[in-house]
Amino acid sequence: MNRHHHHHHRRSQPPLHIVFLFFIFLSTTTTSSTTEEYDNNLSTGSSIVFATLGRTQYNFDIFTQTTYHQNDEVQLTDGESVNYNGFFPSSTSSSSTSFLFNQTLSLDSSSSSLPSLQVVYVTERNGTCNIYLDGVYYGDIDDSDTELGGGRRRSVLEIRPTRRVQIPLLQSKDNINGQISMKDRPSISEEYLVYVSTHENPRLPRKSWAAVYSTHLITGETRRLTPNGIADFSPSISPSGIWTAVASSGEKGWDGEIEGLNTGIYVFKTKDGSDRVKVVEHGGWPCWFDEFTIYFHRESDDGWWSVYRAILPQHDMIHAESVMIERVTPPGLHVFTPATSIENNNFIAVATRRPSSSFRHIELFDIAQNQFIQLTRPISPDKHHYNPFLSPDGSRVGYHRCRGSVNKGKGNSPLLLENIKNLDTEVSLFRIDGSFPSFSPDGKHIAYVGLPGLYVVNSDGSGRRRVYPGTAFSTAWDWKRKGVVYTSVGPIFATEKTQVDIISVNVDEEESGELGLTYAYNKLTIGGQNNAFPSASPDGKWIVFRSGRSGHKNLYIMDAIEGEKGGLHQLTEGPWTDTMCNWSPDGEWIAFASDRDNPGGGSFAIYFIHPNGTGLKKVIHSGEGGRTNHPWFSPDSKSLVFTSDFAAVSAEPIANSHHFQPYGDIFIAKADGSGIQRLTHNSYEDGTPAWGPTFMKPVDVAELPFSGSMCAFDDCHWLNKAPAHRFLASPKPRCS
Ligand SMILES: *[C@@H]1O[C@H](CO)[C@@H](O)[C@H](O)[C@H]1NC(C)=O
Ligand SMILES: *[C@@H]1O[C@H](CO)[C@@H](O)[C@H](O)[C@H]1NC(C)=O
Ligand SMILES: *[C@@H]1O[C@H](CO)[C@@H](O)[C@H](O)[C@H]1NC(C)=O
Ligand SMILES: *[C@@H]1O[C@H](CO)[C@@H](O)[C@H](O)[C@H]1NC(C)=O
Repeated sequence: MNRHHHHHHRRSQPPLHIVFLFFIFLSTTTTSSTTEEYDNNLSTGSSIVFATLGRTQYNFDIFTQTTYHQNDEVQLTDGESVNYNGFFPSSTSSSSTSFLFNQTLSLDSSSSSLPSLQVVYVTERNGTCNIYLDGVYYGDIDDSDTELGGGRRRSVLEIRPTRRVQIPLLQSKDNINGQISMKDRPSISEEYLVYVSTHENPRLPRKSWAAVYSTHLITGETRRLTPNGIADFSPSISPSGIWTAVASSGEKGWDGEIEGLNTGIYVFKTKDGSDRVKVVEHGGWPCWFDEFTIYFHRESDDGWWSVYRAILPQHDMIHAESVMIERVTPPGLHVFTPATSIENNNFIAVATRRPSSSFRHIELFDIAQNQFIQLTRPISPDKHHYNPFLSPDGSRVGYHRCRGSVNKGKGNSPLLLENIKNLDTEVSLFRIDGSFPSFSPDGKHIAYVGLPGLYVVNSDGSGRRRVYPGTAFSTAWDWKRKGVVYTSVGPIFATEKTQVDIISVNVDEEESGELGLTYAYNKLTIGGQNNAFPSASPDGKWIVFRSGRSGHKNLYIMDAIEGEKGGLHQLTEGPWTDTMCNWSPDGEWIAFASDRDNPGGGSFAIYFIHPNGTGLKKVIHSGEGGRTNHPWFSPDSKSLVFTSDFAAVSAEPIANSHHFQPYGDIFIAKADGSGIQRLTHNSYEDGTPAWGPTFMKPVDVAELPFSGSMCAFDDCHWLNKAPAHRFLASPKPRCS
């Protein structure tokens, strides 16, 4: 009893109401807590860390094999970061690519010949998205009469690139596209690089920033081809170079789709975006077969994703009604992301999901024979292969897949913290290999959730330890008591009545128990009822959290040391969901996500409330139906970081691995909701950001030692089931 009186006296100004509850607490707590306190030393710089579903496992590289052999796969890109969505330049663009190679190679007199293989691709190295042109030399092998063009077959291991010339295509200083943005689906026609970029903010919530641009490869001059206010995805240039086809929702924009986007195919002039016309009502991922035929994918009425072709009228007046559309691939398997070659009209390349495999593979589809030829399944049956592309003569197919652990060497183990380029030099930005990260008040440690368990690691990557073995989500540190971390244990995305409780773990205090070495922890809530998302008051006395105990998820405040037995107060109340709360470091506000505008409708906005229950206000909303979640205050309490669908989706989700929320990006804003800034640009699900008090050097932090798996990520869940058995419910809003 004495301990509690002691604690009681230490409290000076409890929030309203809580003081009355102190007289009814019971004491059962036995675990001791350290009383050592942090030396808070907030400097000007700070750091943000966030999580991206699956991304640390991707390790994508571009691989290629000939279309007439099997088992002659070679890796084309260099194993650095992730490399994907490739394109083989054609002879019509050879003057510009030769110019670039000559320019680069003149620095290096050891060879005057051009590389045997050239590939344009997207890379995320150096913490930002860029488009590279690689020239790859394979020994002294002449392309015309060996395994790279014909003749004897060699095994993969025999073939190693001997030299690589790497040319970033959008890096000139004056080029606006050197700016931070997602880049996607590059292709080259004559002297122009055509691609998607997300660098222009349409300044409207839930509008995708994806638009198609062309950049002159020699001068760097860049032109937007997509009309303002419209988003275009997946561009493809016609064989003559005159036309570009894209997938676009047109004026309609994005309506929250997370599987197939509600796009049609549009065609416009490559030179300036003029003569834009819609040619297909429902379809995506166009590719030109000849000047009048476009292949594309769509989800068929029978539920199978299939490849179709659109035959355009051979005169200038194109309307969607005058276009002939035919289904190309049969039901019975999902077929999507088609690729064609300019010179070989016998087959196309596609990605498939066959009911007999849970992996995505690259196949050829013979147009005349209506037959598939499986290319990657015999080589790597248990890896996903994405987004095929064909060489102009059709002799070679490229695609990307996880390189796995076969090629030992650089870039092979995941990073604990991957630095992401950020325009604000005062704030460094990192992606963590885990989820729900949070910084200790001195910025020296990060707590995060792994699979499963709660982890703590030093911010330089050293000293990682699992401090709680069970299923947990959300982490927060006590501001005063050193080494005290709060988390919620139990399943995430569960109902109000699910058993989830908040614990505090003393991460500096190892003790041996039945399970060997464990860390001392206290259970702070009693009786389950989905108690989660703890966040501590800066004076170290209170915890705000959400609980389903009333039948709805609302916010409550409890005693930080004794838990709800030491004092409990309901902060918000109503038949809706209030969740993901964060107490500002200056103590003034609690930020949280709520769907109170339309309970159960899946739309979340960020609200503030004073800890004493006054001052409720809506601060950030991502438009009608929008989802803005996971608010976290900056160290000075003047800004917020959060995750939002503010920028909609940036690519066709089917061209990526699985993301529950392919629209999730990280944003910051002032605490009054003004000045919204996008920090991440990608087609992934970014979430659970946290803002820490120190500026961490903007460099990658390796994961040491690495013991996890590689390539452990999912293909789109919605392709898992054959249509006949498909669970056709609309996706559930994730309102944890
Ligand atoms: C606090 O920050 C200042 C300025 O960055 C630094 O010189 C000082 O060593 C820090 N103090 C502690 C205790 O970390
Ligand atoms: C590049 O160099 C090669 C070999 O030296 C030469 O044949 C070619 O004409 C050059 N191309 C350009 C565009 O300068
Ligand atoms: C990009 O990162 C690589 C290592 O991954 C490094 O060698 C290179 O210097 C970096 N380039 C730039 C422009 O920062
Ligand atoms: C509630 O807290 C806010 C912020 O600390 C303060 O400005 C306000 O006066 C308080 N109201 C009441 C009724 O205590």
